[in-house]
Amino acid sequence: MDFIPVNKPMLGKEETTEISKIIQSGALTHKEGKGKYVLKFEESFSKFIGTKHAIAVNNGTAALHSALLALDLKPNDEIIVPTFTFVATAEVVLHVGCKVVFTDINPRTFNIDLSNIQKKVTERTKAIITVHLYGHPVDLNPILEFAKDKEIFVIEDVAQAHGAKYYDKMAGSLGDFGCFSFYPSKNMTTGEGGMITTNNSELAEKLRMIRNHGESEEYKTIMLGHNFRMPELSAAIGDIQLKKLKDFLNKRTNNAKILNNALQNVESINIPIVEKWATHAWYLYTTNLKDPNKRNDLITKLREENIGTGVYYSTPLHLMPLFQKLYGFKGGEFLNSEKASKSVLSLPVYPGINKEEMQFIANKTREICLSL
Ligand SMILES: Cc1ncc(COP(=O)(O)O)c(C=O)c1O
Repeated sequence: MDFIPVNKPMLGKEETTEISKIIQSGALTHKEGKGKYVLKFEESFSKFIGTKHAIAVNNGTAALHSALLALDLKPNDEIIVPTFTFVATAEVVLHVGCKVVFTDINPRTFNIDLSNIQKKVTERTKAIITVHLYGHPVDLNPILEFAKDKEIFVIEDVAQAHGAKYYDKMAGSLGDFGCFSFYPSKNMTTGEGGMITTNNSELAEKLRMIRNHGESEEYKTIMLGHNFRMPELSAAIGDIQLKKLKDFLNKRTNNAKILNNALQNVESINIPIVEKWATHAWYLYTTNLKDPNKRNDLITKLREENIGTGVYYSTPLHLMPLFQKLYGFKGGEFLNSEKASKSVLSLPVYPGINKEEMQFIANKTREICLSL
């Protein structure tokens, strides 16, 4: 069997046909970031998520950065961020001159919850970035209620959760902003790309200016912006990928079921918990080893069977040198995150894996785990 990586983009004939048309036309991008493919992708994406607006940008980090820029934050305003996430969630806070206030996670879902936020909130807290890690939605209602009461913005980092649902609502439709990534490993891709969803028309207008140098009209800059425009090629791919997303998600869910069936009674490994109100998007099928010292052994043995795995994330952000230097963390501050970083392991469930391969991954993982 060929090597099976932990994730892989699924692109086909449809994408190739569409982008060759654009290449032939020469209209690769639009000077204001509002080309016909971008507008079409934004419309279908906002419909899918259920928000009034969707603003396409050129990556997920730019989506988060734009959301913060739109809030007119002041130096040293505080933004609460879970420490157990990808670095982009926190680095954008520094880019807008604010303070990253890290918080811990709930060990069941590896997500931030209200109790983590309550421990860190101050008079200076202006926003909370909730990350739907691995594709499992955050328990948002208590957070939204708390934030409304305190007049704090809620930014959903949905980079890993296209198609996840919280009760009957799409992740990315509940907070002030939803920030998506279309990096190739994600549930749908545009190569590099991002999207911000929002129901706030005033902020949506600002976001459209931010992605194009803060221009209200051509060559008239009224606020600080960037070049965060999504190219037409990416938008064309994105629109086709969005049509395929339902099928991708069904396949991921079925693949996750095969792993659940094989691993549910294996003593050495915990399978992912899905809360009753959650529809998991299965960006990553993340297990949790009871004995973290066995993780490397499992990774090596699976690799020998041509099965790829991933550790997301082996270092919580507060222990990254950048943040240690800034804020003086030594370890021991966020115990659930530090523990998770040593014990989590993600297995492949991407839609391109067929049933036979998936059963092979499940059987081998079970066999190795039983022998650990
Ligand atoms: C949780 C999270 N936030 C933000 C990002 C940033 O997205 P991008 O890589 O498109 O900039 C990613 C993806 O890599 C992510 O996983």
